[in-house]
Amino acid sequence: MRFHVLTLFPEIIEAPLQASMLGQAQRRGLISVGITDIRTYTHDVHGTADDYQFGGGPGMVMKPGPVIEAVEAALSSSCSHSPDTPVLITSPQGQVLDQSLVDELAAFPEIVLVCGHYAGIDERVKQRFNAREVSIGDYVLTGGELAAMVLIDAVSRLVPGVVGSHENVTQDSITSGLLQHPLYTRPAEFQGMAVPDVLLSGHHAEIDRWRRRQSLRRTFERRPDLLKTANLCPEDLKYLEYLASLGFGHDGAVGKAS
Ligand code: 6GU
Repeated sequence: MRFHVLTLFPEIIEAPLQASMLGQAQRRGLISVGITDIRTYTHDVHGTADDYQFGGGPGMVMKPGPVIEAVEAALSSSCSHSPDTPVLITSPQGQVLDQSLVDELAAFPEIVLVCGHYAGIDERVKQRFNAREVSIGDYVLTGGELAAMVLIDAVSRLVPGVVGSHENVTQDSITSGLLQHPLYTRPAEFQGMAVPDVLLSGHHAEIDRWRRRQSLRRTFERRPDLLKTANLCPEDLKYLEYLASLGFGHDGAVGKAS
């Protein structure tokens, strides 16, 4: 999987990409990340990449020329030369990133990511490449670099080999449709706090049942919206009805049976 990141601030993303699993994934050739400084494609002595907005108003706008040239260079340097390579622009106005969008993006061999800055990017960049705007949530960042990092991280962990075992990718929180159960490691007792007995029992069926119920309970309490789309069996639904009967308040969302 190849990512092209176009930014006015390469230093924001260079270091984090070298660390931990993404660094290792690059060294092992599982993913590659090309970083382009958009300022390379400016043509005045000052390297001007932004300008005032037509119509007036606060905040500068990234000029279309340097960004379009940088995207063209990234697309023509690509190994796949696919006309389908998605061009994404990070922006709080974009589609909010969730696991299903991450899954969709992971199916491409290559992605171009343009990091928005200042008030935003001239609309003609989007028009020129039929680009898609992506946001990472309903809050405002100083720029799109960290959003691009989040997207690269989430997509990369779906690339085979990046995450150790396949189980980790398919059974984690959200991917399974439910939040994860609580986790414990040694020691079995720490500062007077004990690990639940069932986890020490060695009864795998009981452990699985306890974990499933803990996942259901957490999801019910914290993210009842996820229950609408979670894959639930009749026993799950029964347990959720039991939780509801205990009098916890939630919005009544209980998902489809499978
Ligand atoms: Cl993609 N960019 C900025 N500037 N702020 C954001 C965002 C992106 N996603 C959420 N907030």
